[in-house]
Order: sequence, then structure tokens, then C-alpha cells
Amino acid sequence: MKTQAQATTSTQIAEGALPAEVAAPVARFDRYLLNVIDSLDLPANLRDALRYAALGPGKRLRPLLTWHSFVATADVRLDPEACLPAAAAVEMVHAFSLVHDDLPGIDNDDLRRGRPTLHRHSSEAMAILAGDSLLTLSFGLLFDSYPAAIAAPLARELAVGTNAMIAGQVYDTLGGFEPGLSDEQKLELIHLNKTGALIVAACRMGAIVATSHAGKRDPDQAKLDAITRHAHAIGLMFQVVDDLLDVTQSTEHLGKTAGKDVSAGKLTYPAVLGIEESRRKVRQLHQSAAEALRPLGPAARTLDILADFMAVRTR
Ligand code: IPE
Ligand code: IPE
Ligand code: MG
Ligand code: MG
Ligand code: MG
Repeated sequence: MKTQAQATTSTQIAEGALPAEVAAPVARFDRYLLNVIDSLDLPANLRDALRYAALGPGKRLRPLLTWHSFVATADVRLDPEACLPAAAAVEMVHAFSLVHDDLPGIDNDDLRRGRPTLHRHSSEAMAILAGDSLLTLSFGLLFDSYPAAIAAPLARELAVGTNAMIAGQVYDTLGGFEPGLSDEQKLELIHLNKTGALIVAACRMGAIVATSHAGKRDPDQAKLDAITRHAHAIGLMFQVVDDLLDVTQSTEHLGKTAGKDVSAGKLTYPAVLGIEESRRKVRQLHQSAAEALRPLGPAARTLDILADFMAVRTR
């Protein structure tokens, strides 16, 4: 890491792992999302399930990516608070993806974020419905929070990322590849879709909020391109790291079942390339991610530090 300081969050981001200036938005984000969920007119048991799924002890990396992509691309006078609804919409889709990923029909997992998965905590029916609800609420939140001219491009980004995530989950779980692809090509297709695309959406949505304000009709394309290149690299890197952690860390440390990919026969980077080559891939993607930020100059410093953390995280 470039800097060492106390992290101030109550999430799985370990104390000291991220400088406070990078991690601090998590507390603001959690307060905001709790408020959103608590203000919904829904059955109390569904609201409880939404809170359990969206506000459990996760890392909140996607909201941090939205926030710091905003910071990297905005006029310094703009308050990043403006990107909280976009960050919340992405995190709601992420939470939905985890709840459904854990269901018996997909990965059949009992443990998530150090606690029972939602279908274990409540019921399978509630987990399915809470996932449906998070997905739908995420788009509603965008339109309730931004003028239509900004909500529409944000919703488009989120739809693209969500559909790719679902396609990636299908490749990962059910196959359906075009014939003739190598294992490495299949892997890249799975990972860029199931994980990378939502990370790309998280970053681009921060940049869109930052550069589409005050009557400017189109976001700044050069800034958006730099953020997109960065997000592609960290998006793939994120899942390569996730695959490595599955084979190198304990269930207790991860808060989710370790060794799951091998027992389920999943196509993963360590399985196809081996551990050392997978680590080399992480270093290479980390470097590309940092290079992509150069045109943004010092404004992208916190986003860069976040990528450093994502490369070395252990849970
Ligand atoms: C886990 O994502 C699922 C993947 C896409 C690999 P995270 O590692 O970001 O999960 P939380 O939100 O911190 O629990
Ligand atoms: C999940 O990938 C990606 C999602 C879209 C949720 P994994 O199945 O590897 O995620 P974990 O390891 O259960 O968090
Ligand atoms: Mg899965
Ligand atoms: Mg899983
Ligand atoms: Mg995994």
C-alpha cells in the first residue's frame, strides 16, 4: 500500500488496510442506504431481508469505486455526496447478485460475510424475492434521485452491467459458450461478465454523475474513457483475486466457504493457469489499471490507492 492509516469503517475492510480518506465514504454510504431501505413502504420482513443482504459486513468496494471515480473526474467544488444514489443502486444490484449466487440452484452456499446466507437466515422464497426487490429498487432509486437527463444514462449503465453479470453467471453455472473457445478465453468471458461489468458500471456511473451536471448534456468523453479502461482492468483483476482467495484462504478468514470453486469444478484462473501465473495476471492488470488513470492526474490518487488495495486484499 502507498499509505498506512486507520480505516474507519465497520465493514470487512481491515483496520489500516485503506487510508481513512479512501475508506471514510463507507460510513456515509451505509447511513444513506439504511435510510433509503428504512423509508420504503414494504412488508417488515422484506425490509429486514433487504437490510440483511445490502448492509451486512461486506467491503462496499463498488460504492467506493463510484465515489472515487466521481472524485477523479469531477470539478473539485462538487460534493461527492451527489453520487450516493448511484453508488447505492450499484451496491443493491451487487447484493442481489450475491443473494441469488448463494441460492441452492446456483452455488448453494450457507455462509456469506461471516453469517448465514439470506436463504439460510430467512427462507429460499424470501431470498429470491429480496433479490428481485433489490434489483427493481436500484433502478427506481436512480429515477427518484436524479433529473431524467442524468438518471437515463445511469440506468443504461446499470442495465448493461446487470445483464452482463447475469450472462456471466449463466456461463459460470450452465455453460453455453460458442464452440471452439479455449479455457482461457472462456474464463475471461465468464469473469469480465459476471464480475467485471458491474465494476465497470460502478466506476462509469461515478464519472457520469461527476461530469453530467449543471446543464452539461454529455459527460466528458476523455475522462469517461480513462475511467472505463481502469475499470475493465480492475474488474477482471477483482475476480482473479477472488479465485485465488478461494484456494489460498480459510473459510473463517473469508467469511464465505473456501475451496468452493474446486469442489464445484468451476473454471477459475488458478485451476487453468496455476497460482503463480494467476498472481502474475493480477500484477499485470494492476499495472494496466494504474496506467489508465494517468490522464486524470492527481485527482485519481484515491482511485489508484483503492486499486492497490483490491490487488492485495485477503478477503
Ligand atoms: C464477492 O464480491 C462476489 C464477487 C463478485 C467475486 P465482494 O468480495 O465485493 O463481496 P462483499 O460485498 O465484500 O461481501
Ligand atoms: C460471483 O462469483 C459473482 C456474482 C455475480 C455474484 P463467485 O460465485 O465466485 O462469488 P463468491 O465467491 O460466491 O462470492
Ligand atoms: Mg458463483
Ligand atoms: Mg458463489
Ligand atoms: Mg468466488
